Amino acid sequence: MADDELGDRDFERFRDLIYKVAGIRIPPTKKVMVANRLRRRLRATGIVSFPAYYAHLTSPAGPAEMPAFLDAITTNETYFYRDAHHYQWLAETFLPEAARRPKARGVPIRIWSAACATGEEPYSIALKVAAGRQALAGRDVSILGTDLSGAALETARIGAFDERAVHLVGPEERNRSFDFDPALRRWTLRPEVRSMVTWRLHNLLKPVDGGPFDCIFIKNVLIYFDADSKQAVVRHLLAALARGGYLVVGPTEGIFSMLGTLTKLKTWLYQKPA
Ligand SMILES: C[S@@+](CC[C@H](N)C(=O)[O-])C[C@H]1O[C@@H](n2cnc3c(N)ncnc32)[C@H](O)[C@@H]1O
Repeated sequence: MADDELGDRDFERFRDLIYKVAGIRIPPTKKVMVANRLRRRLRATGIVSFPAYYAHLTSPAGPAEMPAFLDAITTNETYFYRDAHHYQWLAETFLPEAARRPKARGVPIRIWSAACATGEEPYSIALKVAAGRQALAGRDVSILGTDLSGAALETARIGAFDERAVHLVGPEERNRSFDFDPALRRWTLRPEVRSMVTWRLHNLLKPVDGGPFDCIFIKNVLIYFDADSKQAVVRHLLAALARGGYLVVGPTEGIFSMLGTLTKLKTWLYQKPA
């Protein structure tokens, strides 16, 4: 076998490692995809074969390579206003209601976009918050975006997007909140919107700091998690959710049966009892 081919046994070892570190069960059919993604790491590190790369990752030097390994294996596909009805609910129901709730002075309304990839999800939230300032009656809103991929978060921080990412953002909102570079055909969010989101590396298999959150978005990430790793994630999400707080769940998460302690309001919307 050529050095740059991924053998079945090595594929299994990488699959096990990915599961252990990130909770993701890569399907056996995805060998070519995994090989292509890891090949980039072989080139970048100068390591000549997949077994040698695996040995490196699991050696004492492994922790230094792990972030780049996770960047390579995660899929960061996302765009603004994905599932537009989630954002309609946020703007029309959640924000006005949260603003009316009595809260300790100085405590902001806290929203967490868990597994935010390159930032389009928390930035969509920020755009709705910016547009709804009046309904918020002076209440502060803090928005946290977290992901396992540091490279995705770096892109998020920069806040520049291609046409595809903003295809659901209307022309008025684009003009109000983005600067357009016609040469690069890039839309860059204005600093006042970018500064509304705080970014942090975070693994969903671990507890999160910064809660309790009044609303958590968990979307399009758990599709390849198995029942055990989903359970671990759900346990942390529920612990981080404020009483009366809402969980917005993506269509492919497969965790509905694990949310028994929450009140189901819609197929994608759950609330923790107050
Ligand atoms: C397809 S994107 C979803 C982005 C956004 N939530 C959306 O729905 O458009 C999935 C993201 O989950 C992240 N991810 C995968 N496993 C994770 C884990 N164990 N902890 C935190 N993030 C993880 C990936 O890095 C990737 O950016």
